[in-house]
Amino acid sequence: MFDKLLRKKTTAVPSTLQERLTIAKEKPMPTHVAIIMDGNGRWAKQRKLPRIAGHHEGMKTVRRTTLFANELGIRVLTLYAFSTENWKRPKREIDFLMKLPGEFLSTYLPELVENNVKVEMIGSAELLPIHTKEAIQKAMEATAHNDGMILNFAMNYGSRFEIAEAVKKLASQLSENTIHLDDLTEETVSGAMMTSHLPDPDLLIRTSGEVRLSNFMLWQLAYAELAFTDVLWPDFNEASMLGVIEDYQKRSRRFGSLEGDEIK
Ligand code: FPP
Repeated sequence: MFDKLLRKKTTAVPSTLQERLTIAKEKPMPTHVAIIMDGNGRWAKQRKLPRIAGHHEGMKTVRRTTLFANELGIRVLTLYAFSTENWKRPKREIDFLMKLPGEFLSTYLPELVENNVKVEMIGSAELLPIHTKEAIQKAMEATAHNDGMILNFAMNYGSRFEIAEAVKKLASQLSENTIHLDDLTEETVSGAMMTSHLPDPDLLIRTSGEVRLSNFMLWQLAYAELAFTDVLWPDFNEASMLGVIEDYQKRSRRFGSLEGDEIK
């Protein structure tokens, strides 16, 4: 009898990625996943390679993660590709990072179109080199009519800058009397952000073992579940992503309220 039960239990444990994927897809999926892709430099160092080799490998992980997130049914994937603080890095590294969107999109744009992925960007485009801007612009135009997952690159993005810009925008509307003090609500502030058309992230993932937000989506992450993994970004694969999603699905999101049986 016990043996029978145990055997039954053992066979019910999903073993392959495909089985785990099927189960995960039946449970609530985060609508918006944001990722701080960290650990490219350390990945390269472990292999005695230059840092840029880590970024190049990281670009391949961007492709893999995009396709897998799409497969999972995630609606928005925001990737922190270059922060306003990253300009402090050596010029050679910055130049390389600025070439990656071009290489990524020229290689994978047809695949993104085929998968109905829509490319978007948050951050300030002004300071980006022309070739970077053009590559992103071209991808945004080519995918503008796609209505599948949004692949949102945060390029030259900084959350405090974004918040300051939103405050400026609202202050100028106030001074022009197009809005009034009472109109300044959480919704109007959200509406002044670069993400005004997107839902807030449900899940933030940071790779490489670092446990901080690094000026990323500070307003939007107010109620996000946070997941930190030791895996370096170039090593982050389908199994790593699925593990994070499975963990997310075990959590109870209360948004500050209580569970059903706690309200007594
Ligand atoms: C942080 O790792 C990573 C970055 C600053 C760049 C992230 C960029 C990519 C993953 C590729 C982007 C691809 C496209 C298509 C835009 P780090 O260099 O700080 O790593 P470390 O902490 O190990 O040094």
